[in-house]
Amino acid sequence: MKNADLRRVDAYEKVTGTATYGADRVPENLAYATFAVATIGKGRTVAIDTAAAEAVPGVRLVLTRFTDEELRGPGFLMAGGYAFQSLQPLLSDAVAYRGQPIALIVADTPVAATEAAELIRARYETEPFTVRIDDEGATSVLQEEAIGLPDIKVGDAEAAYAASPVRIDETYLHPAQHQVPLELIGGVVEWHGDRLVVHESTQTAGALRNGLAKQLNIDPADVEVISPYTGGGFGARNSLQPHIGPLALAARRLNRPVKLVIPRTQTFHTGSFRPVSRHRVRLGADPSGRLLAALHDVEQQTSRHDLYPAMYTEVTSRLYGVPNFGGQQRLVQTDVQTPGFMRAPYEGAAAFAFESAIDQLAYATGQDPVELRLANDTATDPITGLPFSSRHLAQCLKRGAERFGWEKRDPSPGSMRADDGSFVGLGVAAGCYAAMVAPGIAQVSAAADGRVTVGVDGHEMGQGIRSAIALLVAEDLGIPVRDVAVQVGDSRVAPQHLTAGSWGSATALPAVHKALRQLRQQLGVADTGALDVAAAVRATGHQSLEVEATNVGPGQPPEALDVSRSGLIAPAGPVFPDFTAFSWVAHFVEVRVEVTTRRIRVPRVVSVADGGKVVSPVTAASQVRGAVVWGISGALREANEVDPRFGGFLNTTLEEYAVPVNADIHRIDVDFIDEPDLLFNDVGVKGIGEVAMVGVSAAVANAVFHATGKRQHQLPITLEHVL
Ligand code: MOS
Repeated sequence: MKNADLRRVDAYEKVTGTATYGADRVPENLAYATFAVATIGKGRTVAIDTAAAEAVPGVRLVLTRFTDEELRGPGFLMAGGYAFQSLQPLLSDAVAYRGQPIALIVADTPVAATEAAELIRARYETEPFTVRIDDEGATSVLQEEAIGLPDIKVGDAEAAYAASPVRIDETYLHPAQHQVPLELIGGVVEWHGDRLVVHESTQTAGALRNGLAKQLNIDPADVEVISPYTGGGFGARNSLQPHIGPLALAARRLNRPVKLVIPRTQTFHTGSFRPVSRHRVRLGADPSGRLLAALHDVEQQTSRHDLYPAMYTEVTSRLYGVPNFGGQQRLVQTDVQTPGFMRAPYEGAAAFAFESAIDQLAYATGQDPVELRLANDTATDPITGLPFSSRHLAQCLKRGAERFGWEKRDPSPGSMRADDGSFVGLGVAAGCYAAMVAPGIAQVSAAADGRVTVGVDGHEMGQGIRSAIALLVAEDLGIPVRDVAVQVGDSRVAPQHLTAGSWGSATALPAVHKALRQLRQQLGVADTGALDVAAAVRATGHQSLEVEATNVGPGQPPEALDVSRSGLIAPAGPVFPDFTAFSWVAHFVEVRVEVTTRRIRVPRVVSVADGGKVVSPVTAASQVRGAVVWGISGALREANEVDPRFGGFLNTTLEEYAVPVNADIHRIDVDFIDEPDLLFNDVGVKGIGEVAMVGVSAAVANAVFHATGKRQHQLPITLEHVL
């Protein structure tokens, strides 16, 4: 492959502004919508005065209530529905949380809509509420009993722990966080007769199409969802958002297209978030640090109206060869919108806790933290007994240690100093993330001019799926990348299963790979090797040739394709009939803690990942760098603050919700093992986007311990934690 082809294929469109995002669309006669939101922590609206809002010049519609007939409930994503929460605003007078929409205003201009929204006056009846998991009113249920999702167990962990010569027992707290993708949530809906066309940046055009059809009681065939580019997903756009149904009804009433862009402040309440979680980790080991038992108990925040599942132990049970594993996961109901998936939703928080405890075990047993991890490596999934399809964690650790210069580390806390006197801390942590695959449908057409067009399940949210698809096709056929056009995020092309859970590449690429095999067959050419596409197509006597291939995961029944076609989620993994599949990563972090101010800096990070074959080197490396930036952010900056007096979240701007700036981020050195996992699929790809973030915050926390001797039990780590 030529070096010029190793790039982000949509870079030109992005830097020239021709890539169109959901809300970029400006059709004729467009109207603009906005929400007014509840200002109480919980209760109900007794009366909503809309007169002043309606009197604002340019206001066309103020809606405070829909009937069940007009707008049906969307259903909760994790209970067979389409939305991040079951609660659909504007269907009743109940206020479940502060920030819940109570009125939709549509006007000729965004300014008029915003002014009108501020003039909405509601009278409320308030009820007691809680937004903190330890406050009175927060009810806790055992997940295993409440939703029937069994906790992961093997052996007798309690007994093995009690009998272990070395024991670690620590509790860690992870705060609530919000995805804050750069592109605001929003879109444009328009009716063309009975056909509803939705332009909205999303990770799941299929759920939007089918969920809207259900909500509006129309045929999914009459709904089109178009989402070629998404300005950041991270889980914030992984389902039907509650604004689209009301928007579609407003557009129908006004007989105009309507746009809604949710202001940044409102996105902290109109979408999901990463919930608070508390982790008790108990490790039992022999005096050499060999693990005998691990127990990981979790309490995770959820909403009053939905039980967002906790799946933290999926990764902590797989990181090492622990013969006895246990732990309970509990859900704590509070008065917030339903939390949801945010990049490495469980794995990041789980690894912060577990990998901090592993570091502590290394100190307790006098072992080097890298050596201790290598000594507990395993080729077998300790939970199922199946082999891992591929596991190159040891190589990640060894290569990372070498690139980082780990051997120069003096293990004694507080022993290393920089030229300016700052304490130097060097920390390591490992991570893993389930390798999953969703049903995929790929259409490939080859034209007599040599151009190849691919349409497939997948959403481009900046992670580079379009690049990976184009590069796969170009390499397979031996043609220039510029001759490959990729259509993703378009419900007219393929069902558009949710792109999340790091299954995007492993879903789209094997389906495209299969379609290419069919294409070659129809062209009557060899199964591999460079191809003169134009000549081969012309030789068939046709102007173009089109093939379609479907793909499901190993052992997954073909009916999974029907689930996907209905807009519901149907991923398979990480446990397959013959193997268990995970991606792996090791992070090495240097921190500097300034002596007087205790300011914490991260001058360099080395991350080595095993995500199977790297199909798109530029975007894969960019994924890892982005994940490391976010891991540093989670370790040192981010938290959604709450106040028991007010409900909702308080710091709802990018000024107050601290994320890293350029000055916070220095060298990030990324490397890949790049070994194809051909058990998992024919292309050999696993996933990269989320595993890359797993363990970063733990490595920072472990580096802070090495610099200061202060073990960190809570994120974000701020100055007062290292005084
Ligand atoms: Mo991602 S948090 O799996 O959308």
